[in-house]
Amino acid sequence: MPLISFKKNRAALTVPTGANLMKSLLDAGLPVASSCDGDGVCAKCKIVIVAGKENLTPENEIEAFLRETKDLPSDVRISCQTQVLGDITVDATYW
Ligand code: FES
Repeated sequence: MPLISFKKNRAALTVPTGANLMKSLLDAGLPVASSCDGDGVCAKCKIVIVAGKENLTPENEIEAFLRETKDLPSDVRISCQTQVLGDITVDATYW
């Protein structure tokens, strides 16, 4: 089962393979910014992938569109559009 670790001082989470990143963080009680509730519109749910980006599902069309229109850096993923396949380390500016 994949482990989600945090850059800042928080306990790591174990999630099922293929778990949605945003839902996993919310289920663990972490705040994730959003104004579209995971519909892939707002891009506010962006999460910095500190390590393990190869352990996430590839960017889908929705995320690619948001990356281009919002000029997102390469180390950021749209968490509502991303599934966790292996161990990762994440961060957000507001945590
Ligand atoms: S919650 Fe709006 S794009 Fe992810």
